[in-house]
Amino acid sequence: MFARVDVHEAIRHILAISRSEIERRQVVVQLALNAEPPIVFGDGVQLQQVILNLVVNAIDAMSDIHDRARELKVVTRVVDGTALEVSVRDSGIGIRRDLVQKIFQPFYTTKANGMGMGLAISNSIVKAHKGELHAATLLPYGSQFSFTIPLPDHATP
Ligand SMILES: Nc1ncnc2c1ncn2[C@@H]1O[C@H](COP(=O)(O)OP(=O)(O)OP(=O)(O)O)[C@@H](O)[C@H]1O
Ligand SMILES: [Mg+2]
Repeated sequence: MFARVDVHEAIRHILAISRSEIERRQVVVQLALNAEPPIVFGDGVQLQQVILNLVVNAIDAMSDIHDRARELKVVTRVVDGTALEVSVRDSGIGIRRDLVQKIFQPFYTTKANGMGMGLAISNSIVKAHKGELHAATLLPYGSQFSFTIPLPDHATP
């Protein structure tokens, strides 16, 4: 159901339900929630699902990291006055350049117990909101997954 969604509330909710996992896996969370106002028109449950998928992937990507801090950073901002962008960054293993397209395909997984559906589903949800989901490799390490959702005034019917 499409309605007003407070994206910052959604992010805080997902981090709250992930808290014990975040603590158990010794992940440090940083927030930079800069989008103002943080409101989009969308399906709140689906947008939470996208954020949860990205957070779980970020945590998983850091499970073999022992020589540096495991940092999960969630950043929001308004882009060009037209869209709200959510970025989930980690200090994990990163994404091999030749796999950047592949990871969005259904059933593509590198995890022993992965389904490979998280990013495929997230991508369709973001597209259904007329936004975009992108992956990027961070330097010196880690990755960033960002999605945009058009702001209410800029959503095309
Ligand atoms: N933050 C990340 N850092 C590095 N690689 C990632 C990251 N997020 C996703 N990937 C890669 O993309 C693959 C696909 O991710 P996706 O979320 O679609 O599936 P999954 O996490 O393997 O399984 P599922 O989400 O269905 O439980 C992962 O198996 C992993 O190889
Ligand atoms: Mg996943």
